[in-house]
This record gives sequence, C-alpha cells and structure tokens, in this order.
Amino acid sequence: MPAIRVKSPGKTILFGEHAVVYGHPAIAVPLPSIGLQASFLGLPDQPSGTVHIRNINTQQEDLLDSLPAESPIKVSIDVTTDFLKISRLPATEISLSSSIPIASGLGSSAALAAALIRGLSLYLGFQLSNQQINELAFEVEKIQHGTPSGIDNSVIVYQQPIYYMKDHPIECLILEKPLTLVVADTGKPSITKEVVSEVRDRLQAQPYVYTPILDQIGRIAKAAKRDLIKGNLVRVGALINENQELLRRLGVSCLELDLLVATALDAGALGAKLCGSGKGGNIVALAPEGKAEAIRDALLADGAVMALIAEIK
Ligand code: PMV
Repeated sequence: MPAIRVKSPGKTILFGEHAVVYGHPAIAVPLPSIGLQASFLGLPDQPSGTVHIRNINTQQEDLLDSLPAESPIKVSIDVTTDFLKISRLPATEISLSSSIPIASGLGSSAALAAALIRGLSLYLGFQLSNQQINELAFEVEKIQHGTPSGIDNSVIVYQQPIYYMKDHPIECLILEKPLTLVVADTGKPSITKEVVSEVRDRLQAQPYVYTPILDQIGRIAKAAKRDLIKGNLVRVGALINENQELLRRLGVSCLELDLLVATALDAGALGAKLCGSGKGGNIVALAPEGKAEAIRDALLADGAVMALIAEIK
C-alpha cells in the first residue's frame, strides 16, 4: 500500500462566532502557514489490524486499540472505516505532527479529523469528495464539542475562505484582493465546549439581552461578505471592531484578549477581534499594507505567546 501524507490547515473566524451556532452566517478563512500533517505507512511485517499512532510532537506512540473510545483519533478512524465499510485495517503506522496550537480557536481538532479522514481514505484507495470528508469530520466534531455549528470542519476541509450558515450549502469566497491578517495567541487555553455552553446558559436566562447581540453579529457577517470580496479593507476593519464589541457584550472576551486587541489597533490594525470561542485563545487583526510586521512585533512585545502573519487569497 503506497504511503500517503496529507495536511490540513489551521483556521480563523473573521466574523460570526457563537452567532453561527444559532443559525446566523459567519465567515472563516484557512491559515495555511500552520497545519496538521498525517502520514500513513504500511507495515507489511506486522499482523493486519495492528495500527500504531505516533505523535511526532510529543514522541508518544500508542496502539489504536488502546486509545479510549472517545479519543478524536479513534473516532475519526472509526467514522472513516464505517463509511468505507472496511472491517479491518492493514497493519499501519499513522504519524501526526501539528503546528496548530491546541485549545486556542485555530481549528486543531477539526484539522485532526479532516487529515485523518482524508488521509486514511486515500491510503485505503478511496477518493472522497470534500463534501463527504466534511460530513464525516462534522460527526467527529459533534462527539468532541456537543453542538458545533460545523464552520471549523468546513473551512478546514475546503481550504478556502467560506461564508457559512448551518444547514445551507457552503459558499466559497473568491477575494478580489488578498487580505493580510495577524493572528496572535494570548497563551490562555479556551475550551470551546465550555464557552459555547456558557453562552447558551446566558441566552436561556436572559434572551432579551443576548438574542439582539447574536442577531447583530449575524447582520455584521452578512454585511462584511461583500466588502471582504471587494477588498474594502477600511470597511471590513470597522465591521471587525463592531463584531469584537458585541463579543465583549456576549461575555466571551477577557482581559488578555482585550489587551491584544488594543495593542493591534494601536499598532495600526484596521480592525481586531477575538477569534473562535474566546475567553482565551487568539485574536485576529486586519493589517493595512506594509503594517503586518509592526503589528506582529507589537503583539509579541505585549505578551502574545505566538503571532503569525497570514496572507489570505
Ligand atoms: O472551535 P473554536 O474555538 O474556534 O470555536 C468555534 C466557533 C464557535 O462559534 C464558538 C463554535 C461553533 O461551533 O461554531
């Protein structure tokens, strides 16, 4: 069986996180400068069914059978073999390496699922469509996150900027001008499932406060789509700032995120906001031409544990 290597990018959400869980539109872009790589190598000397999982980052090696039932690796492999009706895998070593920080809103869990599903199906001789891979990755995300909107797996599987609404076809966006983003990590972990459930509790307790905030976030994502495609950067930046203010009112920002947002704006960003579930994790800032390095350096000087520049085409 020929060896296979696949890579999934990271992602950031430019507009609409949290509101997207309630059916509003959102916009996400892939971050190809970070990613998760999965390699599949046959082990002809070993009995079939023996699958080794090697984590290159931690140097840990496990047998697939020894992983807990809810392990995202196991679930990704199980949904793929069930879909392909494969009852026993050939002896294989699966190696995983990732530069996507975990629990930080950059798509590490969706990237793992997407790479395992795409890679394993290719390794077994099946060329699945993006739609099929995405449906399977969504199953994995549901087991991990409870009630995900599906935006993370979609942007990572399609590897293009997307306009996303639950239960609607995915719209890939063709940008007329490239977009320069700076993404910076507070270093504070953020657990998506917990923050999504806090928002749900708040919404149930005070719908008259939180429903209008989510509605307005949805309207901003809708308005931003055209400006993003046209490359109206000043307008996109203003909408990013409005989105951040609403996320703060939703209760999902935190001191560390607010500080990095302020730093990015002081350093010349056209807009900056938290990205992903919030309460930690990363911010994303929109850089005007020639300013990305200065914004990144200011973020690193002000405590970001990682900052990267991404050119989105
Ligand atoms: O997984 P994260 O932290 O990037 O958050 C995803 C965005 C949310 O809207 C908060 C959740 C979802 O499922 O859409």
